[in-house]
Amino acid sequence: MGSDSTLIDYFIQDHRDCDERWVEVERAIESGDSTAVRASWETFNREQRHHLDKEEQVMFPAFEEATGMTTGPTVVMRMEHGQMRGLLEQMESAIPGGDFQTVLDLGDTLLMLVQQHNQKEEGMLYPMANSALGADWGSLKEKIEKL
Ligand SMILES: [Fe+2]
Repeated sequence: MGSDSTLIDYFIQDHRDCDERWVEVERAIESGDSTAVRASWETFNREQRHHLDKEEQVMFPAFEEATGMTTGPTVVMRMEHGQMRGLLEQMESAIPGGDFQTVLDLGDTLLMLVQQHNQKEEGMLYPMANSALGADWGSLKEKIEKL
């Protein structure tokens, strides 16, 4: 069984990968290598947003359709994703001018938000989604990987 053999495993691994991409940004900022900062930032920003899109565009709609829960946890998760994107945008605008301290400070706020958010997803939403969608995971994963 690989790390993407179930919906839960797949999305938890996605969270871990995004966390690791952020650690790479922090390391690059500490090293003072602005080329490395820009490169690691591009990767982190792209992959973090890609993760949110996978949930919002494929998994959440499938969950809502399968359970009829259109006013429940996915609404809260989407709202929190919006807060994350707001922080990513602020961080993004600090990159060109080389204001990496601002990127780190905003990153601390983002990380706190992401950790609380991920705990809710991993502890509640993913298990619920796995129950509702687990049988269709193969085709759902195909859609996710086309994004
Ligand atoms: Fe997530």
